[in-house]
Amino acid sequence: MPSFAADIRPLFRDRDIEAMSFAFDLSDYDQVKANAEGIYSRIADGSMPCDEPWPPERLALLRQWIDAGMPA
Ligand code: HEM
Repeated sequence: MPSFAADIRPLFRDRDIEAMSFAFDLSDYDQVKANAEGIYSRIADGSMPCDEPWPPERLALLRQWIDAGMPA
């Protein structure tokens, strides 16, 4: 079962964290958990990150984490 610390946090680049700091902190467990579905849908529709879309397996890992109840 994926965890935030081991599997999800490393998916976000420093560039992503910086760019999105106006909205939420992608390095923070509570903030990613609170915005998880919004984050997922922007990555899934390819609008974020705007410079480098995620490969399907990375998106699937995020979905797996969300569906597993978002362990820390
Ligand atoms: C609720 C989800 C999100 C919303 C509403 C959102 C919205 C935005 C907005 C409004 C900007 C600024 C202007 C623009 O480029 O459109 C932006 C920039 C950016 N976002 Fe997001 N974003 C979301 C999730 C994410 C995620 C999950 C990532 C990374 C995995 C990400 C990476 C970026 C990057 C790298 C930029 C900078 C683009 C650039 O100027 O080169 N965003 N986002």
